[in-house]
Amino acid sequence: MSLCFVIFLVLPLRALSICKLPLNASRGDLKSVVANCIADCLGLSSGKICSVNYKTGGFVNQVCPVNRSFEQTFQVSNQKIMFCNVANENINTASKHNLCTHAAFGPWFRFNSAKTDFDPMQNVIGQQIKWKETAQQRGAKAILSFGSFDSEDGLDAANWSILAANPDSRKILTGQVVKLMDENNFDGISVYWQYSGCPNNNCVKGNKKDKENLVLLMKSLFAAVKERGKLLFLLLPHWDVYLNAGYDLLNLWNQVDYFFLKTFHYNEDGNSYLDYTTSLNKIKLNMAFVRQPFNRTQMRKVLAGFTSSIVLYKLAKPNVKPKMKDRSVDISKHYFNKMCKSVFIGNFTLLLDDTNGNFAHNTTHVYAYEDSNSLKMKVDYSRSAGMGGLYYDGISQDDASNDCGCGPMPILRIASELLHGGGCDVKQCLN
Ligand SMILES: *[C@@H]1O[C@H](CO)[C@@H](O)[C@H](O)[C@H]1NC(C)=O
Ligand SMILES: *[C@@H]1O[C@H](CO)[C@@H](O)[C@H](O)[C@H]1NC(C)=O
Ligand SMILES: *[C@@H]1O[C@H](CO)[C@@H](O)[C@H](O)[C@H]1NC(C)=O
Ligand SMILES: *[C@@H]1O[C@H](CO)[C@@H](O)[C@H](O)[C@H]1NC(C)=O
Ligand SMILES: *[C@@H]1O[C@H](CO)[C@@H](O)[C@H](O)[C@H]1NC(C)=O
Ligand SMILES: *[C@@H]1O[C@H](CO)[C@@H](O)[C@H](O)[C@H]1NC(C)=O
Repeated sequence: MSLCFVIFLVLPLRALSICKLPLNASRGDLKSVVANCIADCLGLSSGKICSVNYKTGGFVNQVCPVNRSFEQTFQVSNQKIMFCNVANENINTASKHNLCTHAAFGPWFRFNSAKTDFDPMQNVIGQQIKWKETAQQRGAKAILSFGSFDSEDGLDAANWSILAANPDSRKILTGQVVKLMDENNFDGISVYWQYSGCPNNNCVKGNKKDKENLVLLMKSLFAAVKERGKLLFLLLPHWDVYLNAGYDLLNLWNQVDYFFLKTFHYNEDGNSYLDYTTSLNKIKLNMAFVRQPFNRTQMRKVLAGFTSSIVLYKLAKPNVKPKMKDRSVDISKHYFNKMCKSVFIGNFTLLLDDTNGNFAHNTTHVYAYEDSNSLKMKVDYSRSAGMGGLYYDGISQDDASNDCGCGPMPILRIASELLHGGGCDVKQCLN
């Protein structure tokens, strides 16, 4: 039995289906049938395994609506953005398959407050420079990140605040970062200030003036970047309190090419296992704050974030069928391919819920993970909200070596295919 018709019914895709479904199937059946199907593709059940078709970018046996190979068309003005945060050499696999339209590298330069200038971080540059060249050769835009969570790694929130506060230092900073962008042959800059008004998530410590100073800083950067025909990205917080404290979104909108948000992984107190990893519901909740001041047209500058990292939970109390609000302990991050292997050989039950998150559980542990259906819903949401695309922070956890049998970088690849809507729509199942 083939199952793509099922998917077509549940989540309307473009008409491409040729598969048969038992006519008497109920909606409940559909859900479980779809669940098994995805499990196959992600290597989570012991049955069939999918493999990638490099020509189409889809899975083997995939039926394509058009005879077209999967390729990105960055040149097209309405091209959807897949902005990838580069963490390790998996970016090469992503580049090889044209999965990222933009790749953020760095920080390559650490701010030295004594001499108010940047020092190169030779180890990072040495490691990333080849990856960056490869990405550019494959047509992706390379973006140089400035700033980070901590000052050891770039430019911390407190220093951003100081530099943004003064017209002279804004001008000097602009000159410095633009020079570094040019000299190192980057296609743009990404401002990673976490966060304006609430340094390192602490709004009490924040400078109330950050909100207007950030607009002035971005105005200065944007003018310099545009003069060179390059791009400017700005990290936004995904909580209303931080947004209200430090972000004048409507005015910032005129001073950036793209905003990106880290709408994934909520490691806050009192979270249950379902609350932790990315779920569509969480993304919607967070994006609601950003969507408030913007109309649909303005949303084209916004990129919501997702990742591929897996979370393993140990249940506080063993349970045959874990529930959404079960207490869990010992939360740890895992790589997607490790999860596949472990679920392959273990005795796991799948609990697939696209909006709240997907889980593979035994009686003592639960893995929370992304699959093609949950990805599809996120991509659909991004499109329906009029967003410019997505921000991917899962390069290092994705399955670059194809251990799961879904092709290299399955999470990024599936999301990328769905986002671009070209080539083939992903069909999650095999006959
Ligand atoms: C649907 O029909 C098939 C074959 O006739 C049967 O085996 C199956 O039990 C039916 N399923 C339901 C939900 O009625
Ligand atoms: C599909 O593309 C291949 C390779 O470009 C070409 O040889 C073939 O004729 C095409 N088929 C159709 C039906 O267009
Ligand atoms: C600014 O950055 C320097 C590192 O250059 C760091 O030592 C200092 O603590 C930062 N200043 C503030 C106010 O955080
Ligand atoms: C959205 O807002 C922008 C900026 O204020 C405005 O120029 C544009 O006309 C608005 N578009 C719609 C469809 O309301
Ligand atoms: C897997 O779990 C099911 C249900 O708990 C049980 O019936 C089955 O024997 C287990 N299989 C293995 C290989 O442990
Ligand atoms: C459940 O899975 C976890 C993670 O793979 C494993 O460590 C644990 O031993 C498993 N528990 C049982 C009862 O099989």
